[in-house]
Amino acid sequence: MDTRPFRSVLYIPGSKERALEKSTGLATDAIIFDLEDAVAVDEKANARKLLAEKLQVLDYGARAKLVRINALSTEWGAADLEVIAEARPEAILLPKVDEAAHVEALARLLDASPETAETRIWAMMESPLGVLNAAEIARAPRMAGIVMGTNDLAKDMGCRFRTDRLPLLSALQLPLIAAKAVGIVAVDGVYNAFKDEEGLRAECEQGRDMGFDGKTLIHPAQLAVANAVFAPSEAEIDLASRQIAAFDDATARGEGVAVVDGKIVENLHIVTAKQVLAKAEAIAAMGE
Ligand code: COA
Ligand code: MG
Repeated sequence: MDTRPFRSVLYIPGSKERALEKSTGLATDAIIFDLEDAVAVDEKANARKLLAEKLQVLDYGARAKLVRINALSTEWGAADLEVIAEARPEAILLPKVDEAAHVEALARLLDASPETAETRIWAMMESPLGVLNAAEIARAPRMAGIVMGTNDLAKDMGCRFRTDRLPLLSALQLPLIAAKAVGIVAVDGVYNAFKDEEGLRAECEQGRDMGFDGKTLIHPAQLAVANAVFAPSEAEIDLASRQIAAFDDATARGEGVAVVDGKIVENLHIVTAKQVLAKAEAIAAMGE
């Protein structure tokens, strides 16, 4: 499991030179450099060249860097991979993954080049078939994370946008459960109305409650909300510290259970408490 935070995962169109250059210092935990839907057909070839060059000279620090290529079934996918390989990408985000075979095909291509020997694979979960096959996809070779593609999913499901996302809940939860089952990162879909901060906050909170590690974002104005919502709160950090202290005391007395704030604390709560503190430390290490 990746121990870095993934609260905010910003899409940057691979064709936008200015955005690529400006974004090295943004407060985003991870970046998806996009060659797929954010890049127009006429710009595909230029974008992949530009991105490969920029990734080799710009320093985006310790944050996770994913490159979303076009699907290998398209006319651009293979060339995207070949050109981007020069930049030794840490991860390729594969769109439109319907079955494990799509990941396996990419893994074979990565196996074939020394430049991509260490490259991990992330999968977009954005089709009904992909959602139904999420368990086998999450277990496929090199898999390190999933990203929900909620716009594509809503389109294929024929469902309506609602603020509670009730029509999408099963489609969100199946891939999330698949990711948790194998211990890989799971990131929620984008919130399209990038100027609506309250709407974004509500959707981040829903994703956080469900267990997503963070949210994909389309605009830097969305970073602060996602970073805040997906971070452990002061109250959670305080509670975790007190649970660990109380449990240590109980253990020293030969007891297996402690009580904090009128609630029972057992071994399993300590696992969660330690995860909360580890996440807070990882966030602090990002330099915020
Ligand atoms: N990443 C990095 N920087 C971004 C950015 C992004 N996703 N979106 C906007 N910016 C930058 C702009 O370059 C601009 O910087 P500048 O003023 O120095 O030129 C600044 O933020 C303000 O941008 P703004 O004018 O508010 O946005 P816009 O109207 O130009 O663009 C979008 C709005 C939605 C088109 C744009 O944010 C975007 O392309 N987002 C990504 C879309 C995407 O990747 N989609 C695929 C996945 S769903
Ligand atoms: Mg998509």
